[in-house]
Amino acid sequence: MTKIKVGILISGRGSNMMALVEASRAEECPYEVAIVASDKPDAIGLAWARENDIVTFTLSPKGLAKPAYEAAIDGALREAGAEVIALAGYMRLLSDAFVARWRGRIVNIHPSLLPKYKGLDTHQRALDAGDAAGGCSVHIVTEELDGGEVLGQAEVSIEPGDTADTLAARVLAAEHRLYPQVLAHFVAR
Ligand code: GRF
Repeated sequence: MTKIKVGILISGRGSNMMALVEASRAEECPYEVAIVASDKPDAIGLAWARENDIVTFTLSPKGLAKPAYEAAIDGALREAGAEVIALAGYMRLLSDAFVARWRGRIVNIHPSLLPKYKGLDTHQRALDAGDAAGGCSVHIVTEELDGGEVLGQAEVSIEPGDTADTLAARVLAAEHRLYPQVLAHFVAR
């Protein structure tokens, strides 16, 4: 089976990236991870990727104009043969031009039940609203922040006494189950 090559962009811990890599090792998984790239040269996830013999690319955007920075990322992804981009805790906004170049081929995981709570502080906002559940969503990336088609979601109940941290930890475990499944369906469609 020829696997679809995925490039993963991270900025930090990279636990979702690790879940995607682990899942990709199964023979029946329709994608493989061609490259892990980061805007943070000291991202923990980047060290893990290197140790796991995955091609990595890192470039700090400091002092670079956004088009030059994104051209470098784009070049690294293409050189690695990436056909799809999976954002996994990548904390920079992609320009409209970059999104247009990869139209329909960038996915992201967001820690809320979209369309609720786009942007940051999703868990605190769910708690403040008195929601019975939080969760996570995998969606297609468009020019609108956290606004593209939702491909899959997992709901996580909010328990009495939950804080943003305890809820985030429970949602993160759900993210690690959801993202590989949804990415596999997405690349196969
Ligand atoms: C996750 O909660 C993800 O939903 C959000 O950023 C966090 C990244 O965590 N986009 P990690 O780097 O994958 O551990």
